[in-house]
Amino acid sequence: MNKDFKEILVSKEEIKEICERLGKEISKDYEGKKLLLVSVLKGAVVFLADLMREITCDCSIDFLSVSSYDGVKTSGHVNFKKDLDVNPEGYDILIVEDILDSGLTLSYLKKVLEDRKANSIKVCAFLDKPTNHKADINAEYVGKVVPDEFVVGYGLDYNEKYRNLPFVAVLSPEVYA
Ligand code: IMP
Ligand code: MG
Repeated sequence: MNKDFKEILVSKEEIKEICERLGKEISKDYEGKKLLLVSVLKGAVVFLADLMREITCDCSIDFLSVSSYDGVKTSGHVNFKKDLDVNPEGYDILIVEDILDSGLTLSYLKKVLEDRKANSIKVCAFLDKPTNHKADINAEYVGKVVPDEFVVGYGLDYNEKYRNLPFVAVLSPEVYA
């Protein structure tokens, strides 16, 4: 294995299983609804691309962009960098996130979207680090619960690197020491 990684946490095969399972669940729950998948740039794009192809009910997609991270440390506040293109009024929004860590990003996003007259707002997070939550937020759909370690791959980056890995790995502390 590449010395940048301590271990592989989610393999390519497991990622496929997770997307199939979540896709089935979401398709069942949103049948007959006006589903809008809202993906958070850039990390969640890879997951969105896999997940949406496992969803069999009608859905639209849109993107927004926020930033809260600087390297491996959260800056503590969230910046809104790109808004939605679609007016979400009347839609059932499912926010698609790469990872739910402190939860500060998602709780901020939910608050912003709650003023937009959507029919419902739920969250689908590929990874969840529940021991690290600081905000009172939960994802209705979770791909995998992971320990509180810095992970990269499958969209997740360290200083914009490693997003293209087809698996999720724990970054070796030497890389960011
Ligand atoms: P939160 O606001 O702390 O929940 O973090 C939100 C964002 O921080 C995620 O959408 C990721 O982009 C980034 N992030 C959190 N944990 C990690 C990690 O372990 N690796 C890479 N990015 C992370
Ligand atoms: Mg993100």
